[in-house]
Amino acid sequence: MKITAIYPGTFDPITNGHTDIVKRAAKLFEHVIVAIAANPSKEPVFSLKKRIDLATRVLAELNNVSVRGFESLLAQFAKQCGVQVIVRGLRAMSDFEYEFQMAGMNRTLIPDIETIFLTPAGKYTYLSSSLVREIATLGGPVGDFVHPDVYAALCQKMCQY
Ligand code: COA
Repeated sequence: MKITAIYPGTFDPITNGHTDIVKRAAKLFEHVIVAIAANPSKEPVFSLKKRIDLATRVLAELNNVSVRGFESLLAQFAKQCGVQVIVRGLRAMSDFEYEFQMAGMNRTLIPDIETIFLTPAGKYTYLSSSLVREIATLGGPVGDFVHPDVYAALCQKMCQY
């Protein structure tokens, strides 16, 4: 059975930890859609267009991965894309409660789509987009955590503050 998976998130911006999960998912599924949520409630620093552009560039070498933005409910978008699986990353136990709640709600909304969890490499378990942004804002080195294109975008964005 050929399975298409969707990996949703805010990706503000995409980090090496996200990429690690995408690469793992790309080995397991026929096609992986990286779905970037507009998520206005999180007040993203990068516009949806910019987040899509960065993720597209970072993931360009993965032939079975595509990047799309969405502004609706994940459940609606996943159904519209015809996916069978939602992929989420679990970095630590602290992620679990929120993820469990979201998986349960998505199952109620779209019973025929399964949520599965992948864990990133150990070196990414403490990584988050907001930490990367904070370090970059304060002039710290974030080159080990993000793709060079994201690094450049962060530098450009932080220069505006
Ligand atoms: N490596 C590095 N960081 C990771 C990571 C990994 N493997 N996995 C998660 N993170 C970080 C993210 O960078 C993010 O950090 P931040 O909060 O500091 O920015 C944090 O963990 C959580 O981000 P993410 O996993 O992307 O989740 P999210 O909360 O940003 O996104 C959505 C959640 C978009 C999937 C969810 O809100 C959604 O589905 N929205 C659409 C509306 C909807 O359907 N709502 C009902 C849901 S039931």
